[in-house]
Amino acid sequence: MKPTALVAGNWKMNGLAESRSELETLSKLLKEGTEAGCNVLICPPYTLISSFAAMNAESIAIGAQDCHAKASGAHTGDISAQMLRDAGAEYVIVGHSERRADHGESSALVCAKANAVLSEGLRAIVCVGETEAERDAGSTLTVVLGQLAESIPESATPDNMIVAYEPVWAIGTGRTPTTDDVAEVHTALRNALVERFGENGRRFSLLYGGSVKPSNAKELMSAPNVNGALVGGASLKATDFNGIIDAYR
Ligand code: PGA
Repeated sequence: MKPTALVAGNWKMNGLAESRSELETLSKLLKEGTEAGCNVLICPPYTLISSFAAMNAESIAIGAQDCHAKASGAHTGDISAQMLRDAGAEYVIVGHSERRADHGESSALVCAKANAVLSEGLRAIVCVGETEAERDAGSTLTVVLGQLAESIPESATPDNMIVAYEPVWAIGTGRTPTTDDVAEVHTALRNALVERFGENGRRFSLLYGGSVKPSNAKELMSAPNVNGALVGGASLKATDFNGIIDAYR
């Protein structure tokens, strides 16, 4: 069985109650257009998860952008995977580079968060990616494979875990790696997953993220071992996001 393709939108710290109109538009576009050969996910800020999930927008799953590693307790301002499940989330992104950089999150913490996500029966999207300095130093594969090894828990399976490769220097910059560069990293990720999980490693979905837009999606998605996209800026407008989903139509 091939990995399931997924096009996921990460709204980051954007979106207000009025943004439900974007979800409505996306749902309409998905209904009217040719059926997409991929799953579609929107990860709005925490404040919108329950209202978006309650909309039951056809063919659109709702997810979160992070969670705490514990299920409950004295952690002011944090949100647990259990709460996210309760609010209607089906997926949780963990280890996004903005969390790793802004909040000093280590791969060990990302692994603990991923475990929390899996123990609630949700799917985790674990992000890995090198900085520009690391790429320039020629250590992309070392960095990315190291993050993968340390961030993915033992209980990961192709059904509960998705990996997103997001070069930090490509996020929000309009710059993207070449398709060959993406293929090189994704093939290395695939090989590492096969080494660790055996034949099951072939079924994990591997997303590319970083400045994906309608004009480059088809080419980036055509790279070997790329099974979808994690999209920031271009996921905020339903028409742009739908233009990326077009890569799977
Ligand atoms: P971008 O963000 O699409 O705006 O580059 C991607 C991400 O951070 O997931």
